[in-house]
Amino acid sequence: PLVTSKEIFQKAYDGKYAIGAFNVNNMEIIQGIVDAAKEESSPLILQVSAGARKYANPHYLKKLVEAAILDTNLPIVLHLDHGDSFEICKQCIDDGFTSVMIDASHHPFEENISIVKKVVEYAHDKGVVVEAELGRLAGIEDAVNVSDKDATFTNPDEAAEFVERTGVDSLAIAIGTSHGAYKFKGEPNLDFERLETISKLLPNFPLVLHGASTVLPEFVDLCNQYGGDIPGAKGVPEDMLRRAAQQGVCKINIDTDLRLAMTAAIRKSIIEDPKNFDPRKYLGAGRTAIKDMVKHKIANVLGSSNTI
Ligand code: G3H
Ligand code: 13P
Ligand code: ZN
Ligand code: NA
Repeated sequence: PLVTSKEIFQKAYDGKYAIGAFNVNNMEIIQGIVDAAKEESSPLILQVSAGARKYANPHYLKKLVEAAILDTNLPIVLHLDHGDSFEICKQCIDDGFTSVMIDASHHPFEENISIVKKVVEYAHDKGVVVEAELGRLAGIEDAVNVSDKDATFTNPDEAAEFVERTGVDSLAIAIGTSHGAYKFKGEPNLDFERLETISKLLPNFPLVLHGASTVLPEFVDLCNQYGGDIPGAKGVPEDMLRRAAQQGVCKINIDTDLRLAMTAAIRKSIIEDPKNFDPRKYLGAGRTAIKDMVKHKIANVLGSSNTI
């Protein structure tokens, strides 16, 4: 069934594991992720960005997720990723999403609070849960020293006040991750001290880690080997994700690893089989790569296998 993340997060919090939130853009991506979760008996968050809605058409994505549920009977959360306004959140809630993110983190603190409050009010009235964000995800050039960190990373006291005043159901925090395939120039490093402080101030409250792809070298290498050009890509090491999952992080967002797995497999398939022109062959290879990668994440990194 389509579910909210309420009970799923409570179990993940207590069990010190995390649920993967995977970005979906088309049928093969959805099928690969869902097949993996089914084989691992894991709950699943499928998240849709504004860009995904534009690419695939909201109706198609919703029906594809419904088909996945018909097919597997898995508990799936359908989540809006990075909603940037009350309007898009409302639209998704009215469309049957069970969870929305209102990302007003680029606004000043008080404005962020008032936008989130408005979404929470509308969502809770319809039984939908809300994720918000406080702090700014560091880009590769940001946060090189302590004062930069204080300016961009989530302030723990503000986080506690923010949750209290908004009534939000989960909070995305900035502790050094960033979106995309180039997360660190030097050694990967997250501010675990800050995470610990935040989670102590917010006991029994689910935190969310965006920009949490590992940028698996295996797929970067395959892309480069088969004609790609993505040098120097680097992500969050798996042991850091395991550690975060034990410190109150219940939702770990993964998009880049899906993109890399699918692209690597499609590049390989097309180049190794130049006579093929049946899209099912290379898209099928992409789907299989996604499935294998997601199974690995669920079983070996997130720790959510057999928790349904
Ligand atoms: O946070 C961004 C996600 O990776 C979604 O990316 O906006 O290109 O769909 P997108
Ligand atoms: P990655 O780019 O690390 O996969 O992060 C995805 C994300 O945070 C989507 O909201
Ligand atoms: Zn994100
Ligand atoms: Na957790």
